[in-house]
Amino acid sequence: MGSRPSLRHYIAMIAPDLETAIAKLRDLIADARTIVPFTGAGISTECGIPDFRSPGGLWTKNQPIQFGDFVASREMRDEAWRQRFVMQESFAQAKPGRGHRALASLYRAGKVPALVTQNIDNLHQDSGIPPRDVVELHGNTTYATCLECAQRYELTWVKEQFDANGQHAPDCDCGGFIKTATVSFGQSMPAVAMQRAEELSKSCDLFLAVGSSLVVWPAAGFPLMAKRSGAALVIVNREPTEFDDLADLVVRDDIGDALAPFIAR
Ligand code: APR
Repeated sequence: MGSRPSLRHYIAMIAPDLETAIAKLRDLIADARTIVPFTGAGISTECGIPDFRSPGGLWTKNQPIQFGDFVASREMRDEAWRQRFVMQESFAQAKPGRGHRALASLYRAGKVPALVTQNIDNLHQDSGIPPRDVVELHGNTTYATCLECAQRYELTWVKEQFDANGQHAPDCDCGGFIKTATVSFGQSMPAVAMQRAEELSKSCDLFLAVGSSLVVWPAAGFPLMAKRSGAALVIVNREPTEFDDLADLVVRDDIGDALAPFIAR
């Protein structure tokens, strides 16, 4: 059983002055061969999309709709679509922020083979990272699919049907239910994305967790997997996270401010 870090070590590790932390982040990024960013909702808040657990976040206003309830009840499907369309303006207007652009710069520089995200807002793709290298653990809310036949539906069509049918969700021609292409609580995780995230976590030498409270499993297991596989773990987040005491560096800062220096000019 290794000795626990002394209080002094602990404070020095998580709360060096910010300048020192940013300088250390710069060194770690410069020295790394393979960087895997792992992003959460915090990277998109400066783009106008609220996160989930901060004050005013989505889960402070709505209860997440469990997958089983969505499938079992038309009322819950209607409510799920109502909640999604309430957010449509935020999602439609959102543009990649400084964090997205910094990570896209590192991707273009060849430092990042692919990025793992819990986010569903498509902003990493919009920042220029090809969809094949954006590993979406929780899917994507910018389009919908049929749960039976996987037919893709655009949200403009779903909204037209929803409004024309008294705010009732349309079903697929095959009779299946149409849902945003996201992974809800209680829904199985996407096997291919999970496999790719595992391969990336085990093969990087720097794992950059950006804008996540790291409380939702199995996604939260990847920073741990990377650390156990020998990567340096950096957490960039304005609040403490579940894994701060495991990290090699914690940058307690606004993501946009902390990552802006890495945007290629
Ligand atoms: N700069 C730095 N940190 C920020 C910023 C910012 N501008 N904005 C928000 N944060 C931090 C918050 O303090 C919070 O700790 O980002 C974190 C976001 O945490 P959550 O809201 O829990 O979001 P996330 O970790 O992505 O949630 C994971 O939970 O509900 C599910 O499927 C959903 O993918 C989501 C998963």
